[in-house]
Amino acid sequence: MLSVLVANPKGGCGKSTLATNLAAAFANSGMKTALADVDPQKSSLTWLKLRPQDAAKIEGLNWLKNEGEMTKGLHRLVIDVGAGIPKQHFDVLLKAADLVVMPVLPSIFDETTTGEFLQKVETLKPISKGTKPIAIVGNRMRANTRAAGRLEAFLDDVGHQVVTRLSDRSAYSEMASQGLSVFDRPGAHKSIIESDWMPLIQFVESQDWAYAVG
Ligand SMILES: Nc1ncnc2c1ncn2[C@@H]1O[C@H](COP(=O)(O)OP(=O)(O)O)[C@@H](O)[C@H]1O
Ligand SMILES: [Mg+2]
Repeated sequence: MLSVLVANPKGGCGKSTLATNLAAAFANSGMKTALADVDPQKSSLTWLKLRPQDAAKIEGLNWLKNEGEMTKGLHRLVIDVGAGIPKQHFDVLLKAADLVVMPVLPSIFDETTTGEFLQKVETLKPISKGTKPIAIVGNRMRANTRAAGRLEAFLDDVGHQVVTRLSDRSAYSEMASQGLSVFDRPGAHKSIIESDWMPLIQFVESQDWAYAVG
């Protein structure tokens, strides 16, 4: 089993969007997948309730109630963590994860909060030793904007692998409102799946391989 912790203390940066789309990507490729929600706003569990019966199955785990609850035989677990997570709680959740995915928006406030949080968690052994990598994802990127340019400068210095950039697309909220993701309608979202998501999926899957041999 491979477990992905989606975290960033800033609200609205795309954690639930990343968590739900990643979970759906795994489920649609035939893997037994669960989505654990550790956010009082319960966005991921709400999304699962909207999910159509015939969509690829994703099991919901309410970690607000039962943190660490697990199902047997899972191939992939995605953990959606709420905003404002303190370092201590991140440390506990990190034990259940193989890697961290951290979205960042092109906003000075998001960059500052993310930078400060990274400095704190870099003192944790699995992070400082690189045994649990942090995959940074630039989110809601709009080409040739000043904000995107500044985020690029931030990403250049972030000190962790910047795995991909997600462009700003209304498809995410449109699909989410139906309990779906871009991976549930791959034909309609072929170009963003290939350009924006495949680098992240490949990065996650390469951790599985590292885990298997290591
Ligand atoms: N790449 C994107 N393009 C367009 N809208 C996005 C994108 N990523 C997130 N959003 C939207 O931004 C809002 C906040 O995203 P969300 O995933 O809920 O953030 P978080 O879980 O970090 O609070 C949602 O309305 C979501 O649809
Ligand atoms: Mg959320």
